[in-house]
Amino acid sequence: MRNKYRKPTTLPCNAGSRCSTSLVLWSLLGFLLFLHLYSYICNRDTNGEESRLHVSHHPQFRELQEVEEENIQVPPPKGKRSPRAEKRRPKPKRPTTLIDEFLDENSQMRHVFFPGLKRAIDPTQAAGNDSYYYYPGRIWLDTDGNPIQAHGGGVLYDKSSRTYYWYGEYKDGPTYHAHKKGAARVDIIGVGCYSSKDLWSWKHEGIVLAAEETNETHDLHKSNVLERPKVIYNEKSGKYVMWMHVDDANYTKAAVGVAISDTPDGPFDYLGSHRPHGYESRDMTIFKDDDGVAYLIYSSEDNSELHMGPLTEDYLNVTSVVRRILVGQRREAPALFKHHGIYYMITSGCTGWAPNEALAHAAESILGPWETIGNPCIGGNKMFRVTTFFAQSTFVLPLPGLPGSFMFMADRWNPADLRDSRYVWLPLIVAGPVDQPLEYSFEFPLWSRVSIYWHRKWRLPQGWSRFK
Ligand code: GAL
Repeated sequence: MRNKYRKPTTLPCNAGSRCSTSLVLWSLLGFLLFLHLYSYICNRDTNGEESRLHVSHHPQFRELQEVEEENIQVPPPKGKRSPRAEKRRPKPKRPTTLIDEFLDENSQMRHVFFPGLKRAIDPTQAAGNDSYYYYPGRIWLDTDGNPIQAHGGGVLYDKSSRTYYWYGEYKDGPTYHAHKKGAARVDIIGVGCYSSKDLWSWKHEGIVLAAEETNETHDLHKSNVLERPKVIYNEKSGKYVMWMHVDDANYTKAAVGVAISDTPDGPFDYLGSHRPHGYESRDMTIFKDDDGVAYLIYSSEDNSELHMGPLTEDYLNVTSVVRRILVGQRREAPALFKHHGIYYMITSGCTGWAPNEALAHAAESILGPWETIGNPCIGGNKMFRVTTFFAQSTFVLPLPGLPGSFMFMADRWNPADLRDSRYVWLPLIVAGPVDQPLEYSFEFPLWSRVSIYWHRKWRLPQGWSRFK
């Protein structure tokens, strides 16, 4: 009887607990869904607000976001082309492309890709209305009137002196091929450094890390390779730390070099090189996060993937933490930046000095997972967009006073005469919804579209403040 009495009460009780468990689960799921929806809407609102803010508060900002078309036609083949360009063509009957024209040093279109000097960009003449304009791809002179030599570079903002420092490869030497099939090269001269208060006129501060002339076993012997130097400041040690790609002429050493200095304008002391985490490292960059932790990002495994890992507290080495990202995507020339807590990165494909299509990537955590969100280039024409405006990413600098806007820095390499490679600096804006489906995440994306706008001539809107 006791059992009979108990049984019916036990059964509904179990069913009830199952019911309430599923009720709890469903409400939890509903709550999570609501949270996602809410953060998505908030994110959209913030972005929407931000673009409205740009447009309403900075009328010139609208100019930056205007889509500027280019109508460049490839001229019909005429007479003899240079033997080098002929050799490069695998099929002789293939129609000429703009990339062929770009790589052909005798092209009739040479002036389109490598236009000559314009007085307006000469800071020694910088007076009147035409000053402070950027002319992407044109020769850019320093305050002494010499073409700036800071290729594959990056910019450091030095808080104590309220000055920007631009470091890059000083390539003012003859271009030659070390081997018949080797890439065009210039002997290492060193790292050029330029300072500026306005990001427009640049004073040459000299070569802050120089090549080694005599000791052939030295990493920086002139016959080797020093590329993509980047500098960050370490608050704890008070040192300026430079990381760079060091290699031999055949790019088989694949290592990173580190140098330090007490002042941003050098001289930097070279500390040596190593393969980070024991892996090959070619194109690379460093990124200092808001919490002071810095990261090394490098192309590895024969450029098939990127690796990323935090540096030690003194920024002089990597730690044992490393992540493989964009595996199998063959990306290089990484340039990282952060906006509203989200990490973004621009990369290029791997085609040596020849330009190719840029891609933007985003991540909620710097160590990944990273999501590819598409080609950020807007304007020009299709050829401009699939060649990153005939340039390759090197650095992205936040523009203080204009949240969500950045200076995109790229190199328009000139493999026929590397010292005459040009700088393509353009406005990069993070706003609006992404236009590519997501790979890893089934959630609503927290990130926005990254857009780099082509302009033949542009300047920073008045609203930007020079100092952080
Ligand atoms: C590119 C790289 C440059 C330079 C060049 C040499 O892929 O981004 O920094 O190494 O190759 O061909």
